[in-house]
Amino acid sequence: MKTPAHRSGPVYTTLGRNRGLAALSVFAVLAVLGWSMARGQSATPPAENRSSPENPLESPVLEKKVSDLLTKMTLEEKIGQLVQYSAGQATGPSSGRTDDRDMVRKGQVGSLFNVTGARATNQLQHIAVDESRLHIPLIFGLDVIHGFRTTFPLNLGLAATWDPDIVEKAARIAAEEASAAGVRWTFSPMVDIARDARWGRISEGAGEDPFLGAAMARAYVRGYQGRHLDAPDSIVACAKHYVGYGAAEAGRDYNSTEISEHTLRQYYLPPFEAAAEAGVGTFMSAFNSLNGIPTSANPFTLREILHKEWGFRGFVVSDWNSVAELMAHGIARDGATAARKAFLAGVDMDMVSNLYHRHMLQLVESGQVPEAEIDQAVRRILRVKFAMGLFDHPYTDESKEASAMLRPESIAAAKAAATRSLVLLRNEPAPSPLLPLSPKIPSIALIGPLAADAGNMIGSWGALGRKEDAVSLRRALTEKLGEARVHYALGTGFLAGSDADIAEAVSAAQKAEVAVLALGEDAPTMTGEAASRAWLGLPGRQQELLERVVATGKPVVLIVFSGRPLTLPWAFEHVPAVLAAWYPGIEAGYALTDVLFGDAAPAGHLPLSWPRSVGQEPLYYNALNTGRPAADPDHPVENGEKKYVSRYIDEQSTPQFPFGFGLTYTSFRYGNTQVTAERLSAAELGSALAGRSGARVLSVSAEITNTGSRAGETMAQLYVRLDGTSIAMPVRMLKGFQPVSLAGGETRKVTFELDAGTFALWGADNSLRVEPARVTLWIAPDSAAGQPVKLEITER
Ligand code: NOJ
Repeated sequence: MKTPAHRSGPVYTTLGRNRGLAALSVFAVLAVLGWSMARGQSATPPAENRSSPENPLESPVLEKKVSDLLTKMTLEEKIGQLVQYSAGQATGPSSGRTDDRDMVRKGQVGSLFNVTGARATNQLQHIAVDESRLHIPLIFGLDVIHGFRTTFPLNLGLAATWDPDIVEKAARIAAEEASAAGVRWTFSPMVDIARDARWGRISEGAGEDPFLGAAMARAYVRGYQGRHLDAPDSIVACAKHYVGYGAAEAGRDYNSTEISEHTLRQYYLPPFEAAAEAGVGTFMSAFNSLNGIPTSANPFTLREILHKEWGFRGFVVSDWNSVAELMAHGIARDGATAARKAFLAGVDMDMVSNLYHRHMLQLVESGQVPEAEIDQAVRRILRVKFAMGLFDHPYTDESKEASAMLRPESIAAAKAAATRSLVLLRNEPAPSPLLPLSPKIPSIALIGPLAADAGNMIGSWGALGRKEDAVSLRRALTEKLGEARVHYALGTGFLAGSDADIAEAVSAAQKAEVAVLALGEDAPTMTGEAASRAWLGLPGRQQELLERVVATGKPVVLIVFSGRPLTLPWAFEHVPAVLAAWYPGIEAGYALTDVLFGDAAPAGHLPLSWPRSVGQEPLYYNALNTGRPAADPDHPVENGEKKYVSRYIDEQSTPQFPFGFGLTYTSFRYGNTQVTAERLSAAELGSALAGRSGARVLSVSAEITNTGSRAGETMAQLYVRLDGTSIAMPVRMLKGFQPVSLAGGETRKVTFELDAGTFALWGADNSLRVEPARVTLWIAPDSAAGQPVKLEITER
């Protein structure tokens, strides 16, 4: 077991990472601010007070450069900066575009994407810089989502690490590799809150929780953009898909969303705001309509919130063709109207639809779009280009490209991330669970469509990840145990499978001591964009295969590879060990083998609620209590059941596994939760919130004991509930987490230092405030466990 004893990781709370320890006393801060804040007064400071001096998009020197360049630009050249094309898209008269190079030469393109390689990007950059009239460099983009060449776990797996340092490191390595290949802009991170596992893109984000999502959003931005945006190995990040895309009705991709302003602010916006605060250079507007207004033409979210409230100074790119899709949405009857509506709402750059290129000149000349607005949009784009240093070093050093890829330390980081992304869901029978396996085991049957499929380990959005770089479970197991001890059988394909293949797998299991089944979804076709599912079981004949192998009586380890939680109630009853692996990236096989044999302990925790059946979706832990909660102890019982409560008559109300859940090779007891105050003042907290003081207002502690004999790590999670507020708040909200490592039998006290932000809510009037409330707090290993401790927030 390599888990070090006594390791204590950073503490994440609304104070930020580890800041709790250094926090000032709230009283000192309040003495300065005065006590004037009235109950519930809005605490959102104006945007101008929220800028950070280090934000490269706020430099006056840079602003002057932008202004100087703008004065030299013709209207056509300005419009050119608003246009983005994907390489390899059709050209020709009806597409409105000619040849890429020709357009770059004429200054008609501001950005190209899906072009990679230092040589290819340099060639195009030379045309822009040497041959266009004003020598304005292009910005080259790509979907670098969970690695460039070194593929890290799929983003949901990265979120399952609950480790922002791992995510930052993954993003940093992706930036180093991508920039070496001429790519200086990634369309990542996807920070959409996703509560519905039917939605295929749940795989690309950090799950259902705004606090975890915000921590991950900041980590990605820090990693991609590095310490200085103008360093040659920094790439500009893009917070997407703004906003509400993950709330697609019925989990069907691209579907409409209805989200109240309160829900938007309380749950969906925080990861975007966190990305903005971390200095993200760009945002991407989404495909979905939000309360009837498509998000690529939504002035409320793009202008009011993003620019005015948050003071965002970068630019907004539309999602693919989403400007033209305003016509299908039904808010524009022609391309010119679509271009006008998207642009005036705040979409600065048009990704591939051609409509800015075709119509913007005429829209300005006819007075429908003020040229001053064009200037503002171009200013935002040029600001990013200057901040990236593109004008000073537009080219990529071709001699360094190859050596930047797949460095040994990058591969080691990919393995570390993969190891920590695996979530152990079940490990029976007690007291001697099946996992970890003994390395002396005489033989293993390795079965299933994902056992030998290296390509699938990359997951969706693989950028330049290659299957030949990826290690399958079969390869790693064979390297560890030797060919003779691994009996491999496909068992079935993802969808099609034969009786003969199933029979071969059953016979392989019969010959071995243990069967390891690698089952799940085919990443390229069943997860990611345009891969929503109405059923969440194992596709094809995989369930049948599983049941047949279990029927042999051999102990079975099920490894689930998927871009979402799968509903596997039978497995969770009959299979002794189940591991959620997501898609672990290029080091998949080695990471899995380490965990199977106990060279590493499982450390992942669910970033979402795992459903029992698809009918429970959307399912999320931070739901409202309702007037008739299923768990209400006071509700009358009639004929042995509580009938008129919020529940299903044919399914349990609880998830199969709650948000935050994850087992490891030892067990923990949480107890003795304590708070340093029984009463807090809403007025004082409100003042601290308004001043963004970050001062500590409360400490919460608990004692955690490793009740096993092995060293191990638990993720201590801090949850909060507020009752008696102006608007109903959820049964629990995550407000902090910290990894805690303990030797066998060891007990330790963990502490969370909390600031006013922990108790803030978006009130019924849509202002951020602290209200009088009864507060319940838990320090727990998941969102359904823990002993509550209570305190009061009083008015004064
Ligand atoms: C469409 C996807 O929704 C978006 O996430 C991606 O960045 C763009 N295509 C560009 O590939």
